[in-house]
Amino acid sequence: MSSEWVIDAHGLEKSYGSGTSRFDALKGVSVQIAAGETVAIVGKSGSGKSTLMHLLALLDEPDQGTLEVAGQTAKSLSKRAVNELRNKEFGFVFQQFFLTPNVSVLDNVILPLKIAGMGGKERRRRGMEVLTQLELADKAGNKATTLSGGQKQRVVIGRALVNAPRVIFADEPTGNLDTATGAVVEDILFELNRSQGITLVIVTHDEELAARCDRQIYIRDGLVVQHTAARSAAHSAAAPTNTEAHSAAAPTNAEAHSTAGGAA
Ligand SMILES: Nc1ncnc2c1ncn2[C@@H]1O[C@H](COP(=O)(O)OP(=O)(O)O)[C@@H](O)[C@H]1O
Ligand SMILES: [Mg+2]
Repeated sequence: MSSEWVIDAHGLEKSYGSGTSRFDALKGVSVQIAAGETVAIVGKSGSGKSTLMHLLALLDEPDQGTLEVAGQTAKSLSKRAVNELRNKEFGFVFQQFFLTPNVSVLDNVILPLKIAGMGGKERRRRGMEVLTQLELADKAGNKATTLSGGQKQRVVIGRALVNAPRVIFADEPTGNLDTATGAVVEDILFELNRSQGITLVIVTHDEELAARCDRQIYIRDGLVVQHTAARSAAHSAAAPTNTEAHSAAAPTNAEAHSTAGGAA
């Protein structure tokens, strides 16, 4: 059963510090995420959202609990295998961008391919493909520092996308952007979900952004306090490009609906 979930986590606990300065950031959190879903992790600042995301994304290890990613038990994997799994299956979009400032936009985008060991020519080809998709091809040679906030976040999305990941984790992806620019970045993320079936896990305290997701997981003081029901993994595993899935999604999916309406 568990292999139907991209992410299947049970009883995650995580503390920072020790002794009297110990802080229990997660106190037993279980989360299941199916392929193709968009899931918001919602809660106030300090509630444990980023800690949870870091565990789910294999950026950090839980003190307690079990975690399966793409059918593999994280604990059973070597550090190297975890790094490979993360690099292959996941893309990351953080509020703070984390771009390398004095390196070109293209070099920033293709970094995950370099880590994966792809050859230089193929890397650049794939990088330009992604930059073209994000309407940033003309900025490929620019240094990242020369870009606006919205352009930077599009470069970050390009870097997240370049490995054709199964899941994109976004931690407050619009937190450093003005409303209009943030909306563009949100639209890009949801379009990637719709057109390529990329699973989105979005950490946010923005209720409007959370409401755009299929599902919301509310966190308070390191615990899940409210959880909208998961779709059955078997059901959501249907390929998003499949015509049957497409027509079935059309009446309920606002975006698909409006596209169909526009064509009529
Ligand atoms: N590296 C750390 N060391 C000590 N405390 C931390 C660390 N990271 C997070 N915390 C604490 O854990 C709690 C949850 O943090 P975080 O997961 O970042 O919350 P959120 O993303 O919801 O704002 C906060 O009280 C925070 O101060
Ligand atoms: Mg956070």
